[in-house]
Amino acid sequence: MDHIKLFSGEKIPLEMHKVMIVQKLALQPIEKRIDFIKDAGFNTFLLRNRDIFMDMLTDSGVNAMSDKQQAAMFIADDSYAGSETFYRFESKLQSLFGMKYVLPAHQGRACENIISQVFVEEGSIIPMNYHFTTSKAHVTLNGGTVEELIIDEGLKVSSSFPFKGNMDIEKLKKLIEREGREKIPFVRVEAGTNLIGGQPISLGNLREVQKVCQENDILLVFDASLLGDNLHFIKIREEQCKNMSIREITKKIADCCDIIYFSARKLGCARGGGICIRDKENYDKMKGLITLYEGFLTYGGMSVREIEAITVGLEETMDEEIINQGPQFIEYMCHELQKAGIPVITPPGGLGCHLDAKQFVSHIPQEQYPAGALAAAIYIISGIRSMERGTISEQRKPDGTETLANMELVRLALPRRVFTLSQVKYVIDRISWLYQNRNLIEGLTFTSEPEVLRFFFGRLKPVSNWTEKLIKKFKQDFGDSL
Ligand code: F0G
Repeated sequence: MDHIKLFSGEKIPLEMHKVMIVQKLALQPIEKRIDFIKDAGFNTFLLRNRDIFMDMLTDSGVNAMSDKQQAAMFIADDSYAGSETFYRFESKLQSLFGMKYVLPAHQGRACENIISQVFVEEGSIIPMNYHFTTSKAHVTLNGGTVEELIIDEGLKVSSSFPFKGNMDIEKLKKLIEREGREKIPFVRVEAGTNLIGGQPISLGNLREVQKVCQENDILLVFDASLLGDNLHFIKIREEQCKNMSIREITKKIADCCDIIYFSARKLGCARGGGICIRDKENYDKMKGLITLYEGFLTYGGMSVREIEAITVGLEETMDEEIINQGPQFIEYMCHELQKAGIPVITPPGGLGCHLDAKQFVSHIPQEQYPAGALAAAIYIISGIRSMERGTISEQRKPDGTETLANMELVRLALPRRVFTLSQVKYVIDRISWLYQNRNLIEGLTFTSEPEVLRFFFGRLKPVSNWTEKLIKKFKQDFGDSL
């Protein structure tokens, strides 16, 4: 079902589930929130969860499980080797993707570690539709470089193009021609392209990538972490797939690929990961590393309880009424924010709603991290935790200069089935207020900066006393209200 139409004419997303277990939340007063964000070095990753009202940092490992997932956890077969739980997981993946070999791993980046160690060497080039932080880090750690071949439309903030995650096929062909296929062990395509706003790829585009890979004898590796949202978008936006079931679309996607890996913290709504492989030769290359880094081949660093939950979660991903929930809430949120004039990535994608900080706080120079400053301001005025996806999430160049990000985004992730519509309305309200008062926000500067993945642990401070001005205005407008 699409959004439901109310008698008033308004259209809203409707929760297709009931809530059976809840966790109490606290909304701390603004005076405390400013202390918490100071303690966290103005980095939302370093906040404590107890100090957060709505955690919209990520949809990773924090989605609500179904009753069926929870039930399956009780029948898990706890054994080091040969667990029945693993065979259920393996056979579900085999039936969904039609690939014979399955390796378990404790999460998505663990799969990336194994794949990169096996296939990437000094001088390798890995074409991607777009990088993800951990996927790029593993390639570079093994001596390779990443070439991003996203279509031009992908980097436009506002667009009506339905598949902004598509790869530019001409650029791919030219790259192979220029560098030679020997340097390219695989092409990586990411479903629901995370860092450009959860934007989907089309089945048609993936088929074209597959053709180029086959012609050049290059492996096609597919990151299916955000496949759930992507399947929904293919179903509703791609003409040739309108009459296909989600299961058929999944199989057609898998048919294009040689290796599929995923973070089950996203796909399957639990915690863990896995690699599916078409050929025995590639499976054999990887399996030794699984036992070395992850665990025995029938658990791969995961608890058997989580594996059971993933298996059920993967099956539930085949249900359009389950996978449409995230995108529908995101669409509602994006449209309401747009009505208030707030710049968001369009069309709405999966994963969450993405604010364009370059426009939202256009007065803050990129060297002062507009997206980081906006994420800190959002927490201060609302208790909502979002994630910076801009220059702070990049790494400095070897000479110490900044890599200014293509996009300065603040991601408000919508963990599946966790928040209600009134909570989403609260988010819209507070961000609309902040937009009216955006000129009060100023930049941030690092006080301590790790070399690798600095966005996780880096500490920053405001460039001026702007947070005080922001709090003063908040109190004027909201009085004693939190
Ligand atoms: N690939 C994609 C597309 C992802 O979004 C993630 C994680 C990973 C790989 C790595 O998986 O976390 O299980 O090791 N994304 C999380 C996020 C961290 O918040 O978007 P992991």
